[in-house]
Amino acid sequence: MAFLSTQPYKGTRDFYPDDHKIRSWIFSRMRDACTSFGYQEYDGPMLEPFELYAAKSGEEIVNQQLYWMMDRGDRKMAVRPEMTPTMARMVAGKVNELPKPVRWFSIPNLWRYERPQRGRLREHWQLNVDVLGGNSLLADAEILIVALDLMKRFGGEKHVSIRVNNRRLMDEFFSKKLGLAPETTLRVVKLIDARAKIGEEKFTAGLAEAGVPANVKDELEKFFSSSLASLGNAMPCAGVDELTKVFGYLSESGIRVSGNPGDTTSQVVFDPMIMRGLDYYTGTVFEMFDTSPENRRAMFGGGRYDNLVGLFGKDKLSGVGFGMGDVTLRDFLDTHGLLPKMESSVDVFVSLPKEEYRGKAEWIAGALRSANFKTVTPLEVNGFGVQLKQAVKHAARFAVLFGDTEFLEGKVVLKDLDQNSQEVVTFNDVVAAVAKACR
Ligand code: HAM
Repeated sequence: MAFLSTQPYKGTRDFYPDDHKIRSWIFSRMRDACTSFGYQEYDGPMLEPFELYAAKSGEEIVNQQLYWMMDRGDRKMAVRPEMTPTMARMVAGKVNELPKPVRWFSIPNLWRYERPQRGRLREHWQLNVDVLGGNSLLADAEILIVALDLMKRFGGEKHVSIRVNNRRLMDEFFSKKLGLAPETTLRVVKLIDARAKIGEEKFTAGLAEAGVPANVKDELEKFFSSSLASLGNAMPCAGVDELTKVFGYLSESGIRVSGNPGDTTSQVVFDPMIMRGLDYYTGTVFEMFDTSPENRRAMFGGGRYDNLVGLFGKDKLSGVGFGMGDVTLRDFLDTHGLLPKMESSVDVFVSLPKEEYRGKAEWIAGALRSANFKTVTPLEVNGFGVQLKQAVKHAARFAVLFGDTEFLEGKVVLKDLDQNSQEVVTFNDVVAAVAKACR
């Protein structure tokens, strides 16, 4: 009989305790950043009706990446590839009751059928942060400020740059300036979005296939290197005004911004090449990148969407938000050496050298747990040497050891394994001695 494989499904990860610890640490930093700005955590189901994504998530997700199935009642269901449609559905469901603006965050696990590679897997966890209600561009600025604050909490703010664009500006450029039909625009936008991935040759061939004349390609290149100020003169439009306003707000908040796409030193930079693959964005769009060439994929992406909540037949409610994946974040933290040494899962190991000492050992362990020390007791009787080895294996900071002599005197040997020191203390003094050593 062939044995079953121990490998997880391609593109997914097993989180053994050491990795799980890192994941929990990352999630707790995310929660701290969001709650410090007054955002509330929510969650939704893993399965949603297929049409929830077909409506707005975009061709690539729906036709190439969605995991879907027919349930036993013949309903076509999809495993969530992103959280935004679920969030919009939930907000629409209680749109009149929710206090505005709605400030929500969530850390769902998402599924996309992708070719697994650095920064891309089939299952990932994604921090979603969204503000809904009102059209204020202050919300766009706030979302970017939350993202930068988050990176600061990881100690990585100086290694990232947020590239920002605006869909209204792109519409103006593609339809009014270049005179491209909506279908051609869609193809060109997707090609620009994929440019770094597919390379220059395929990009140029794709433009030709889409029927884009050579002179239009030149216009495109010129546009991609334009500064926000020069576009303000050459092509005044709502998109440029919005970007200028958002950059002004950010600057007031002490963030270094630049309207020049070539700028490599500012925290937030205008970049007309940022497209975003999802169909629902209508205004500001942005992606955050690691400035180190080792990690080329976007670490997070997001933007403003005006028409998502309206899809559910409820009041229109505009929103803005971003999604940040744990895979690219972990690569980022590894690259820049920003992962701290994780805390041990065990503070104290209380030994069991004889069956008849168990009652006392349990009493000491209970007292330590009541004082919030993570405490382990062995499941078998063993001599001093073996117990000490077990304490080291558990990576415990302290070992509580009994010999007959100490036990009869109502005492234990408390060994500090980090400091390589030991003292003899009474049963009643173990907790105080551990607490003192930890101070
Ligand atoms: P997205 O750009 O598709 O946006 O994904 C956001 C981030 O999730 C990416 O920048 C990346 O860090 C991570 N990510 C996406 N796919 C994968 C994958 N297959 N493997 C690993 N990481 C991945 C959205 O999903 C939008 N719904 C975000 C949003 C929230 N927009 C507004 N609110």
